[in-house]
Amino acid sequence: MKQEKIFLKDYKSPDFTVDNVNLDFILNEDFCRVISQSQVRKTTPGAPLLLNGEGPKLISIKVDGKALDSSQYELTSEELMVKDVPDQFTLEIETELQPQNNTALEGLYKSNGIFCTQCEAQSFRTITYFWDRPDVMTSYSVTIEADKTKYPVLLSNGDRLKVEDLGNGRHKAYWKDPHKKPCYLFALVAGDLGVIRDTFTTRSGRKVNLEVYAAHGKQDRCHHAMESLKKSMKWDEEAFGLEYDLNDYMIVAIDDFNAGAMENKGLNIFNSRLVLADTASATDTDFFSIESVVAHEYFHNWTGNRVTLRDWFQLSLKEGLTVFRDQEFSGDMTDRGTQRIDDVDGLRAAQFAEDAGTNAHPVRPDSCMSVDNFFTSTIYEKGAEVIRMMQTIVGRKGFRKGMDEYFRRHDGQAVTTEDFAAAISEPNGKDFTQFRRWYSQAGTPTVKVQEAYDASKKEYTLTLEQSCAPTPGQPTKEPFHIPLMVALLDKQGKELPLNAKGVHTNSDGKYIIELREAREVYTFTGMNEKPVLSILREFSAPVTLQWAAAADDLYFLVEKDPDSFNRREMAQKLASDIYSDLIAKARKKEALTVEPRFLKALNALLLDTKASPAFKAKMLQLPSLHVLAQKEAVLDANAFYAARNAFRTAIAKECRQALLDTYRQYHGVETKNHDSKVGAHRRLKNMALGYLAETKDPEILKLASEQYWKAENLTDRMAAMAILAELDSPERTKALDHFYQEWKNDSVVLNKWFTVQATSLRPHTLDEVKALTKHPAFNITNPNNVYSLLRAFGSNLIRFNDPQTDAFKFYADCIIEIDAKNPQVASRLCAAFNFVQKLEPAMKDRALSEIKRIVAVETLSKNSRELLQSAL
Ligand code: PHE
Ligand code: ZN
Repeated sequence: MKQEKIFLKDYKSPDFTVDNVNLDFILNEDFCRVISQSQVRKTTPGAPLLLNGEGPKLISIKVDGKALDSSQYELTSEELMVKDVPDQFTLEIETELQPQNNTALEGLYKSNGIFCTQCEAQSFRTITYFWDRPDVMTSYSVTIEADKTKYPVLLSNGDRLKVEDLGNGRHKAYWKDPHKKPCYLFALVAGDLGVIRDTFTTRSGRKVNLEVYAAHGKQDRCHHAMESLKKSMKWDEEAFGLEYDLNDYMIVAIDDFNAGAMENKGLNIFNSRLVLADTASATDTDFFSIESVVAHEYFHNWTGNRVTLRDWFQLSLKEGLTVFRDQEFSGDMTDRGTQRIDDVDGLRAAQFAEDAGTNAHPVRPDSCMSVDNFFTSTIYEKGAEVIRMMQTIVGRKGFRKGMDEYFRRHDGQAVTTEDFAAAISEPNGKDFTQFRRWYSQAGTPTVKVQEAYDASKKEYTLTLEQSCAPTPGQPTKEPFHIPLMVALLDKQGKELPLNAKGVHTNSDGKYIIELREAREVYTFTGMNEKPVLSILREFSAPVTLQWAAAADDLYFLVEKDPDSFNRREMAQKLASDIYSDLIAKARKKEALTVEPRFLKALNALLLDTKASPAFKAKMLQLPSLHVLAQKEAVLDANAFYAARNAFRTAIAKECRQALLDTYRQYHGVETKNHDSKVGAHRRLKNMALGYLAETKDPEILKLASEQYWKAENLTDRMAAMAILAELDSPERTKALDHFYQEWKNDSVVLNKWFTVQATSLRPHTLDEVKALTKHPAFNITNPNNVYSLLRAFGSNLIRFNDPQTDAFKFYADCIIEIDAKNPQVASRLCAAFNFVQKLEPAMKDRALSEIKRIVAVETLSKNSRELLQSAL
């Protein structure tokens, strides 16, 4: 078994350039043939030809038309080597594959009778022997030959040249991509698919044909994806001056897909759950996710495809930047303030946990076992924060200038995160040398805030100290360059003009402190009264604040901070402290009472007619259990559960009337409108119902039940079902049975039925999940099924870590079973064990012994092995 690590420091530039490649695919039911013909030039004198290849059966290899016999090359399980090759030659390789038996869903595989590919990161090598590295970019010509009736649609990247009828019931399509690309962006689709079409005219007048493909009969659910695509194309022109560069843009929805979606040049392949949507079959959240993922993949056309990666350690170059771009897009499509809150919530729940755990790694890692494991929230979401900090430092205008420079310098190239940082900093006259530590050092820094006010001198001083705990392989850290957006507020909540050394205004007119040393002191003069500090506004850096602010200041900020992010942040801080107190009391079996001041503030906000429903919904949301688990020293599932129930019930009681009024105000309004504003109204009223239901008041449960049966959209139906799913009553069974009957033939929707049961907090959840794995509708080879049932259960902190049951054993069995078929899907389940170190000794032993059992499996993939081994 291969277990070696690969290192960034071992990077060497390629020894060959490939001028172009021709790929011929001959698709059959029992096997497929792939013939690749490349024009190759040697750039390193004397270098042997080394090609990556894992699995494809080698039929023949020819150099300049002459077949090599097996004495002229060496073939291992990972490489094909030819010692002597001319300086310039034509390389022809023929391989044979069996896509119908490919359960890993990487390379060429079949999903519901459709041939499709997934090559990122390193799966092109399962199709043919090639330079499977992103810095080898070349032009692709592709032909696809297949049965005409079974596979009427034949797609690849770039321009559609022609389709030939071969006369024998088969046909052959010719494609040519005019843009050079690395092989991870290659794609092919062949199948019988429905399609919707539209066009988009770019601002320079190019008419682009847009196509969204899905299974026949599902076309009607593709319109939202199409609208999202058009919005994305327009936005990228307006925000970054970036236009689309081909005549066609295609999106194909596939039911069996390991990830969310893939940005293959001109031919995006999507998990069908991120394409298909209508009122009956998708929630508001689905509508939102589709818009943002369609945008994300579209934005990759420039950030990822036109400018690509030098090597996989640079993954955040495209992912961090593209997540940043899709977040900005979503902010513009919805509401910047609440978008920021959502993005930070996501970052905290997943990335901060990753940074604090045994798999912590830098945004630009310097070693790994499996490149597949790079697709993490650190690379994606923290990577996006790093880009956002650059924007905060140079301001939005300066950032745009830097982006223009990035494309001017690097269009058509394979580059590094350092190249990106240089393109942003240099035109803005900034030095990012220290800033680049955000790429090389893992861990979430802590910023300690201390305040002092001297009334006689009218002086306010702010002392900031930064530190960062060790992470695996990095025992000590150098100070980070941290942009902190700040304001000092007067008694009315107005922002005071700031005048202090070390505080500057960026091009957006925001006050920024650039903390660079381990400790810095800032003195603000002319302060007639003690101001109230608002710091880390808009969450200007991915850090943890350690700030013993006075409760009065926090409540003041909750009410008055003009920065809506911080209003909500301070409410979270208060809620988080209350939560910790409740957990501590629950562990000591003391009575669980909630600070009334907090409850009153929440009630006042609900009654406030000036606050937007979207913002109220954000304020009503308590810190997630995953975020609390990071903060608590011990993960005691029973105490968490008790604290959660006590907190939510206290809110339900204190705010009962306001919650009911909110529910009535927005329930049943514009039920078929999926606009983000209407969606926010719905979110708020469904949250209100969720709180009210905590009291188990029969009248409220009747409301929930009525909402389920009369729902006019899936958002309302699911919200009600989630409430009913927590009950032990016939209402629960009735609703679940009904939902199943309604959607049993539609796996995208039925997955929600799995999730609602897997995330239920009832004590029997584990047994139910076990039973559901045997349900006829559950297919362990379908990634979405696994994610919606098993990964969802793994994220159910309370039931996964319940000492009364044995979820760990069950979960380990699942990981082992799935890993044998599909390592990528299995490795995504491993995160459920992330909190092992926080469990109480007996539980921890149980978890560790299960992890050991998994790792002991000889044939375990390196994906799962890498993630689990670190916990031991
Ligand atoms: N590159 C894809 C994205 O983020 C994610 C992905 C990675 C999809 C690997 C499939 C395989 O847009
Ligand atoms: Zn991406």
